[in-house]
Amino acid sequence: MRLHTQSFITLLTLTLALTGTLYAFKLISSDSMTHDDITTAAILNTTADVCRALAEQEGRDFVLPEGSLSVQSLSKACLFTDSVKAFQVAIGVISLRNAFVDLRHVLDEEYHFDDESFVRGRRLITRGLAAAKANVKQGSLRAAQQAIGEIMHTLQDFYSHSNWIELGNRAAFSTLIRADLAFDNIADSNTPTCRNCVGDNCDNNVLESIIAGQKLTSGYFSLTSFSKPQGKCSHGGSADLTSQTEPRGGINKDAVDSAHGSLHADAARVATAATSQLLQDIRGAVGDEDFLRLMGISRSPTSSSSLVLCFVVDTTASMASVVTELRSLAATVVSSQSNKPSVYVLVPFNGTSFGPMMRTGDSDVFLSQINTLSVSGAGNRSEPRQGLSALLQALAGVPDSSEIFVFTDGPPGDSHLESTVTALIENTKSVVNFLLTDLSSAEAGDLYRSLAQLSGGQAVGVTEQQLSQALSLVSDSLSPALATLIQVVRNPGASETFSFTVDSSVQTLLVYVTGDSPTFTITSASGATQRSQEASGRLGSIQNVGNLHTVRLTSPLQTGQWQISVVSSQPYTLKAIGESTIDFFFEFVEVIQDPQPGFTVLDSRPQAAGDASLSVSVTGGSAVKVTEVTATQVSGSGAVRGTLEQTATGDYLVTMRGLPAGRFFLQLRGLNSSASNEVFQRQSSTQLITSTVAVSAQDDGDWRPGTDFSVPFNVTVGNGAGGTVVVRHLNDRGFATSFPSNLTVGSGGIAEGSGTLSAPSDTASGTGVVLVIEADSPGSADFNYVLVRLTVTAEVTDITAPTCEMVSVNANCTGNCSLQMWEFTATVSDGPGGSGVERVSVREARGTLNTTTVLGGAGFNVTLVSFTTTCCFGEVVLVVADAVGNVGTCFISSDGGRTLSLSLLPLWVSMVSLTVATTLYS
Ligand SMILES: *[C@@H]1O[C@H](CO)[C@@H](O)[C@H](O)[C@H]1NC(C)=O
Ligand SMILES: *[C@@H]1O[C@H](CO)[C@@H](O)[C@H](O)[C@H]1NC(C)=O
Ligand SMILES: *[C@@H]1O[C@H](CO)[C@@H](O)[C@H](O)[C@H]1NC(C)=O
Ligand SMILES: *[C@@H]1O[C@H](CO)[C@@H](O)[C@H](O)[C@H]1NC(C)=O
Ligand SMILES: *[C@@H]1O[C@H](CO)[C@@H](O)[C@H](O)[C@H]1NC(C)=O
Ligand SMILES: *[C@@H]1O[C@H](CO)[C@@H](O)[C@H](O)[C@H]1NC(C)=O
Ligand SMILES: *[C@@H]1O[C@H](CO)[C@@H](O)[C@H](O)[C@H]1NC(C)=O
Repeated sequence: MRLHTQSFITLLTLTLALTGTLYAFKLISSDSMTHDDITTAAILNTTADVCRALAEQEGRDFVLPEGSLSVQSLSKACLFTDSVKAFQVAIGVISLRNAFVDLRHVLDEEYHFDDESFVRGRRLITRGLAAAKANVKQGSLRAAQQAIGEIMHTLQDFYSHSNWIELGNRAAFSTLIRADLAFDNIADSNTPTCRNCVGDNCDNNVLESIIAGQKLTSGYFSLTSFSKPQGKCSHGGSADLTSQTEPRGGINKDAVDSAHGSLHADAARVATAATSQLLQDIRGAVGDEDFLRLMGISRSPTSSSSLVLCFVVDTTASMASVVTELRSLAATVVSSQSNKPSVYVLVPFNGTSFGPMMRTGDSDVFLSQINTLSVSGAGNRSEPRQGLSALLQALAGVPDSSEIFVFTDGPPGDSHLESTVTALIENTKSVVNFLLTDLSSAEAGDLYRSLAQLSGGQAVGVTEQQLSQALSLVSDSLSPALATLIQVVRNPGASETFSFTVDSSVQTLLVYVTGDSPTFTITSASGATQRSQEASGRLGSIQNVGNLHTVRLTSPLQTGQWQISVVSSQPYTLKAIGESTIDFFFEFVEVIQDPQPGFTVLDSRPQAAGDASLSVSVTGGSAVKVTEVTATQVSGSGAVRGTLEQTATGDYLVTMRGLPAGRFFLQLRGLNSSASNEVFQRQSSTQLITSTVAVSAQDDGDWRPGTDFSVPFNVTVGNGAGGTVVVRHLNDRGFATSFPSNLTVGSGGIAEGSGTLSAPSDTASGTGVVLVIEADSPGSADFNYVLVRLTVTAEVTDITAPTCEMVSVNANCTGNCSLQMWEFTATVSDGPGGSGVERVSVREARGTLNTTTVLGGAGFNVTLVSFTTTCCFGEVVLVVADAVGNVGTCFISSDGGRTLSLSLLPLWVSMVSLTVATTLYS
């Protein structure tokens, strides 16, 4: 939907008032459901279902939280409290992308099921769905989240913009997510569907003949034209000009005050069910573990954390002893009982090459990868390495906000990539730490230190002998929910005292000070002190390795105002991090007024001139409120405080009248009403910066393996400044490209360019590609970038789900159910021309599943499935997915007589009738 103020879809309902040249936004509170509400409710619902199923498989109890589900309550019930932040981030990415459809495709009717564009709308959904499933299989989760956000928008709009609800339907329309089902109940293009509304009353404007014939229609919409096909319904609302011509009025259910607002609640409810159905379909295709991973929740039998362990390792001969240390560190991390990573990433590099990136969720695979890493070459420490190239691969391949460790002892041979690394650090907010053993090049040291600092990481210079001690930096980072309380960079050094607030949610506290022999004193809230020379003192322990000074404060911590006084004439950094449920994440956003208000995530640096807007979310539950968001200069005292507006979903839209010059941090303060309105403070890890140029790119269209993909992009220099801008680009897959190296700025200060990427024909469907396009300002005083996430997907020709046929049910369930077993055997196959059965799983029961694939006589494979369980599980759901993610579901009951007769029939019930099935079981 595209209608602003009463939009059932826009993420934010904003009104704007012009105050001079500045916009001020107000949030209209409303009883209507938004796309965001619907999306969040459906994700929570489906995730709860997955949790329940997993608990059942593992023989655990699962208690659904009381009341309406929230990210917090569900995470607790599901035992993945360690992933709560990542879960919230994933929902945010999906929701923002959902809202983005209203901005990018505001006038493309098929994205909204307007203008009776049913077949094209469904094509968008089914193609996006297939792409999302392929993305998940390739581990391109961010691309999958974006695809899902986009198709959810279109799917949800159907229930508001069509007459599905007016036809009396109160269940989801499965045909929208199934390319194989006939779409034949659409009103003919020449058939009138509406009559004039009577005044403002549009209750009965859909023609009886349409209702009686159960024909689908949807409202026509135009911002610019009054015309529409004769007799057709309009969307309605003041922006829709078609609603002013006969038949006047509209049928949309976007909000309670829309033309058909009395049906808004029903439409929103069915849209939520349809969104859940879409998610259930994805779940069936990718499996429960990957579904949770898609939602930011990492879960393996041994870990529920979303921790990532990422090593970027120099393998030149001089690194031999470092690599040996890393092997033993990896073994320790993998065998530890708590805080086990759920994703392991390893990127090797040396003087001549880098990669490939190895990424696995299996700790044994990781161990064998690191154990087979071999060092080679001359072992000359002054020889340049491909370290930044390897780091770029890691930055593009790990989830946002990950912690990355680079181990090297030589200078980079690819320092021309510094700006690209900077761009990716700013965009992904990952933290990069460098462990530099006996590094002799001062210039290289400066580069590594600068990259570490702007990511909020440490650059630690140690001798080979000290390395094992410095590796505590790695183990310390392996703690879920680490939040930054304060971070300071001083260059040149100066003596200064810093205060920060420790709130009661902070469970552990670590302070890092890096620099050449700084001395410091820490003072707790109650006035107890410890000096940097005291290895163990009243407040905790202090470890000094090379230039890294680590203070581990003893828990429980005094809450209140703490201080650190640093005395140093040399440059130093200071960072205090704590384990806490309260943290925040943010995106710079571009607010768009036209044709409707809303915002889109800015995958670039914000502009130096004009207002800046941010979307800020805080974790820790609804008791946690943000009171202040400030952009503070890293060096210098400049600070800009934003104005905050809370959105209906509890996030904040922050507007800043200009941003500080140079690099800045974001600082946030707030109140926790579940702890007597206690004050808390947090800070961004990443250093941010503005730019005087803007770069934007377009990423529309399908990209098939073996084909080229063209990316048009613009560089805007503003103020009509002319000249030439230097352009750089890089993609993380190493695909061949053709891009201009410079562009001439035309009239209006815009330089238009276009680049091409070529995907090799063996590119796996679902492969995500990160493309960074950079442009220097004329004169190269600063640069900006745009990060584009693309995906290569093969065309899907198999659109039908696998089928299932019962062979036998062997059950005699009488008496004590736990003492008796029953079993069934069935065959499943994907038929001739199918992509083949790939995944067979059983839901609603715990038991033993056995599958055997035999090459069928008809040229396609048949999988023999047998399942044995106790009589306590009376009904079993067999879920079968084929290689491209079509999902079929089969229901089998132990109830002898009933099942026996049914078992003679193919028991195919499509995935999409799961709601019916669920009621069967409850
Ligand atoms: C999810 O929603 C469906 C209705 O669409 C409902 O029947 C089911 O109980 C919900 N599941 C959970 C776990 O809330
Ligand atoms: C760098 O690593 C690659 C891949 O491991 C290897 O083939 C190559 O020989 C190495 N180069 C040097 C100079 O050691
Ligand atoms: C570039 O600017 C032109 C107008 O100057 C606009 O039509 C086009 O859509 C822009 N392209 C991108 C990729 O932003
Ligand atoms: C600008 O690009 C053109 C063609 O892409 C190239 O021929 C020219 O040398 C470039 N100029 C500079 C200054 O890099
Ligand atoms: C079913 O089991 C019960 C008790 O275990 C037994 O008495 C009965 O004969 C069995 N029926 C059949 C058909 O096997
Ligand atoms: C699984 O089924 C196959 C074929 O029916 C059979 O040969 C095999 O023994 C079964 N495996 C187990 C573990 O039951
Ligand atoms: C049948 O299964 C085998 C082994 O899983 C596989 O290699 C083959 O491609 C499959 N054949 C068809 C027609 O799907």
